[in-house]
Amino acid sequence: MADKFHLAWFLQGSSIQAWGEPWTGNISEEWGSAEMFLDLARSIERACFDYLLIEDSIYIGEMWQKSRDIYLKNGMSVPRQEGSVVASLMVAATRHLGIVPTLSTFAYAPYLVARTVGTLDQVSGGRAGWNMVTGSSDLSAQNFGYAGLPQHDTRYDMADEYIEIVKRLWDSWEPGAIVADRESGILIDPAKVHTIDYVGEYYRCRGPLNSGPCPQGRPVIAQAGGSDRGKRFAATHADTIVAHVKGAEHMKAYREDVHAKMQAAGRDPGTCKVLFLVAPILGDSMEEAELKAEARRVKAARNTDIKLAQLGWSTNIDFSEFDLDQPVGELTTNGHQQSLAQFLRKAGKRTLREAITEYGTTGMSVDLIGTPDAVAAQMGEVMQEVGGDGFLFALPNVSRKSVSEITDGLIPALQQRGLTRRAYGHRHLRDNLLEF
Ligand SMILES: Cc1cc2nc3c(=O)[nH]c(=O)nc-3n(C[C@H](O)[C@H](O)[C@H](O)COP(=O)(O)O)c2cc1C
Repeated sequence: MADKFHLAWFLQGSSIQAWGEPWTGNISEEWGSAEMFLDLARSIERACFDYLLIEDSIYIGEMWQKSRDIYLKNGMSVPRQEGSVVASLMVAATRHLGIVPTLSTFAYAPYLVARTVGTLDQVSGGRAGWNMVTGSSDLSAQNFGYAGLPQHDTRYDMADEYIEIVKRLWDSWEPGAIVADRESGILIDPAKVHTIDYVGEYYRCRGPLNSGPCPQGRPVIAQAGGSDRGKRFAATHADTIVAHVKGAEHMKAYREDVHAKMQAAGRDPGTCKVLFLVAPILGDSMEEAELKAEARRVKAARNTDIKLAQLGWSTNIDFSEFDLDQPVGELTTNGHQQSLAQFLRKAGKRTLREAITEYGTTGMSVDLIGTPDAVAAQMGEVMQEVGGDGFLFALPNVSRKSVSEITDGLIPALQQRGLTRRAYGHRHLRDNLLEF
């Protein structure tokens, strides 16, 4: 019997993201009510996914010709809603699925994150997580009164303190603190609720958390840093890592590196699940799937500006200043270092036009194109080679139709092969993650 692996969904913000894609109904009028995304949550729960991660950013892009035009005209990550609000709608629409909003450290005080995610854990009965991000654009920092973001590695030093506060706040209520003794009339035992009195280089916090204890004790922490410093951070703190690495060999190396760093931090490597981004292209036949993949390549080749503006959005590089027909060359960033490294590695000596046309047009960690059964077989083989722990679906064309291809086509094929769960084993998100 093959080993089971985990499934999660990477929702690129609650926004009008699906604008311009087919089968998206009246998305231009209905996006604000988040109905399509609530249906997504219900569907992936039916398919027994571990969690849905709501990606986020808190600014409108301006990294193409120093203008917002391309981002606004094409609805690129705008308009997008506050993830914690959409997350609370999602927990109300589901019973088993983990819900993991992104909250950026520069935008929310640690106390507010501990309280928001803690409350989400309470109202969901232990299904909340927090995608812990440090931000990557000066534009977002400027929305909060800062001149820009701190340097890349300083952000992680700050994040170490930040997360320590959040964990201590979650721990500030000892188990059994709520005694609810009707005879004596005592609700809470004061001896079991503590200040944390944290004084760090970057943050201070008194505590205790006033929102009370969380069903999971500490809600699940997700992280995505792919640089060496980022991986060290994730290995120290995360329950699940979302990774963007191309090819089974690199995926395996990434996971092994995380495991080594976890051991160095005194953690059991089995306690953090590394999930890899995929965007399968499914068809009723291999030919149909290939045709869809080709259509996506053609669209990408036509829209190099949009693709480059998207890459610039996460790397803070204005690619409009580059010659499309010259090799990409060497680049550096204070933004997403790993996304850039990944792009440069794939680009090699190719021109910017060639590199961007291929980048992100088909698969992500691995290219998955075919019938549900063929793709299920391929996913099983990849996981066998990598060693675990699962996949994170990030469709560029979220619609009820494309979601159904995954949840009613691909996932049953995986289940029939014994590769993914058919029923939830536990009430809490962390327990489901640790189940296999
Ligand atoms: C799969 C994946 C999902 C991410 N989601 C978010 C997000 O929602 N919001 C955000 O600000 N950054 C997000 N990031 C960026 C990471 O949090 C991190 O800032 C980025 O990977 C850069 O880290 P690095 O320089 O250590 O590689 C994501 C990255 C990856 C690979």
